[in-house]
Amino acid sequence: MLFIQRYNKAICLIYFTFIFLSINYLYHFKNYSILHPIQQIKPLDRSLLFRINGSTKSLGKATSIYIINLPSRPDRRTESIALMQTLNLEAFIVPAYSVQSVEIVSQNRYRNKLLLKLTELACWASHMRVWMTIANNTLLHNNTWSFIFEDDIDLEIDTPRILKSFSHSIWNEADLIYLGHCGDIPGTLIDQSWKHIHRVHQALRPSCTHAYAIRSDAARKLIYLLSKPSRAIDDSIVKLVDNHQLVAYSIHPPLAMQLPSSNTNPSDVNHRNEQSFIYRIQFLFKKFSHWLKRVPSYEKLNKSTLQKANLTKAISWRKMYEKGVWKNYN
Ligand SMILES: *[C@@H]1O[C@H](CO)[C@@H](O)[C@H](O)[C@H]1NC(C)=O
Ligand SMILES: *[C@@H]1O[C@H](CO)[C@@H](O)[C@H](O)[C@H]1NC(C)=O
Ligand SMILES: *[C@@H]1O[C@H](CO)[C@@H](O)[C@H](O)[C@H]1NC(C)=O
Ligand SMILES: *[C@@H]1O[C@H](CO)[C@@H](O)[C@H](O)[C@H]1NC(C)=O
Ligand SMILES: *[C@@H]1O[C@H](CO)[C@@H](O)[C@H](O)[C@H]1NC(C)=O
Repeated sequence: MLFIQRYNKAICLIYFTFIFLSINYLYHFKNYSILHPIQQIKPLDRSLLFRINGSTKSLGKATSIYIINLPSRPDRRTESIALMQTLNLEAFIVPAYSVQSVEIVSQNRYRNKLLLKLTELACWASHMRVWMTIANNTLLHNNTWSFIFEDDIDLEIDTPRILKSFSHSIWNEADLIYLGHCGDIPGTLIDQSWKHIHRVHQALRPSCTHAYAIRSDAARKLIYLLSKPSRAIDDSIVKLVDNHQLVAYSIHPPLAMQLPSSNTNPSDVNHRNEQSFIYRIQFLFKKFSHWLKRVPSYEKLNKSTLQKANLTKAISWRKMYEKGVWKNYN
């Protein structure tokens, strides 16, 4: 008797969960088809960009570097400035959308809440705005490259030299080049550096967006193909790569790493807590699947740029030069 009662409860629970999920999905799916959130997003005005005045203007074939940073995260801005100052690179810090931005809040009720978190919508919009900025700045050029970094990365200190040591042709074949492989298994070997151990591989499932180079016509393509966000931006890109609509390469071993998030360095995008039980289980699971597939694990960079960086210098530089949204973010 007791067994049957429990059994019934379980059936009821599954049934109601199914009904709830279906209603939720259909409700949002219906609205989703009339949604044009892209209209809310415009290219960034130059006055919103915060320029870091390094004397090297290019990295690989890319002639612009954009770093996405929330104005309310000056700690990460400092690290990004320190990173660029150490490599002496010119870069532009661009404001990220937050979950409180008007453009994001106004889209919230159309969001498919099962497949897309609010933070992921903000992340999608932030990258979309940089692509639009690139598209607007390269109207007559299809083959101009730019780098897009998120603000929580570290770079291999030899990145500029390593990128130079690859064949020039990689820049003519790819739409996107990832500096890191995000735990992806390497696809076909495309190129081997003549001087370093680094290789360029076809990226099969590049599920991360913390450091990638993008070609100007690929930016235009993504604006068009991803104009309606239905899932996290990295998953959407993986889908386009799967469908052969985009060609992506990644560099092994990685030249960029995402800094681990923690309570003192919270992630703005994922809100995941790396100390949490679930995260650790996922991490172990990922390690196990890498071990099965024989992916070499690179836990850290060979020579970290941030370790060489002078944060004191970056803080005082930031405080001296930031203005507008960067200074008055509250
Ligand atoms: C887009 O590019 C045009 C021409 O380069 C420029 O005049 C305009 O200000 C840009 N728009 C934005 C929003 O930056
Ligand atoms: C960048 O600005 C700082 C402060 O004005 C200056 O000391 C430095 O020489 C500049 N660097 C370049 C490459 O222009
Ligand atoms: C850029 O690409 C588009 C679409 O592929 C094409 O129509 C256009 O002519 C190209 N422009 C240049 C300058 O190559
Ligand atoms: C790491 O750096 C050392 C010293 O510069 C170099 O000899 C070695 O080849 C590098 N290893 C990798 C994996 O890049
Ligand atoms: C870091 O920069 C500060 C201020 O520019 C300078 O006083 C200090 O000597 C630098 N530290 C190192 C280790 O270079």
